[in-house]
Amino acid sequence: MTNIEDSLKELEDEARKCLRCRLSTTRTTVVFGEGSSAADIMFIGEGPGKQEDLTGRPFVGRAGELLTRIIEKGMGIPREDVYIANIVKCRPTVDLKFTRDRPPEADEVKACTPFLLRQIEIVCPRVIVTLGSPSTKFILQTSTGITRMRGRWGRFMGIPVMPTYHPSYLLRNGGEKSPLRKDVWEDIKKVLDRLEMPISAK
Ligand code: URA
Repeated sequence: MTNIEDSLKELEDEARKCLRCRLSTTRTTVVFGEGSSAADIMFIGEGPGKQEDLTGRPFVGRAGELLTRIIEKGMGIPREDVYIANIVKCRPTVDLKFTRDRPPEADEVKACTPFLLRQIEIVCPRVIVTLGSPSTKFILQTSTGITRMRGRWGRFMGIPVMPTYHPSYLLRNGGEKSPLRKDVWEDIKKVLDRLEMPISAK
C-alpha cells in the first residue's frame, strides 16, 4: 500500500465507527467512497441510497448504473480509475420505514463533510465533478441551484470544479432519452478537455 492508500484506509476506518449524526442510527453500512487513490477525477454525489446502504459502495443503484455509463462509455475511463464519494456517508431517508431518500440536512452535512474534505486532500484530484445541487452548494459554497451552476468552472481547495446534473435527476427527466443528457455531455467534454483526454464516445 502507498502512503495515500494507507491514509484513505485510516480515514475509512474512522468513518466506519462514526456516530456524529442521527444517520448513524439508521444506516446499514457506511458508504465511505471508492476508486483510485491516484484518480485525476473525483465525482461527488449527495448521499447513499438504498442499494448503496446495503452494499457499502457509492453509486451502485440505478443512478449509479447511469453514472458508470457516463464514466465508462461517455468519458472512456474505467470506473475504478476515478474516485467516487458523497457529501454524507450514511443514507438519509424521509422516515424510519426507509421508503424514500431525501437530501441531507445541514447539520448532517456539517457533521460528515470533514471526511469528504480529508478525502479530497488525500486523493488530490485534478478535477472535481459535483453531481446535483447539494454537493455543488456545499463544494462551491453557493445557494444558486444546479441549473444555473452547471457547466461553469468553479474552484475548491485550489482544484477546478465542474458542476453537472445528478444522474437521478436525469433518470427522473427522461432517463437515457433525457434532453438534459446533452448538457451533461457538454460538461463532461469540458472536463476531458481540461485534462487533455481524448473526447471519443458518447
Ligand atoms: N446518489 C448519490 O448521490 N450517491 C450515491 O452514492 C447514490 C445515489
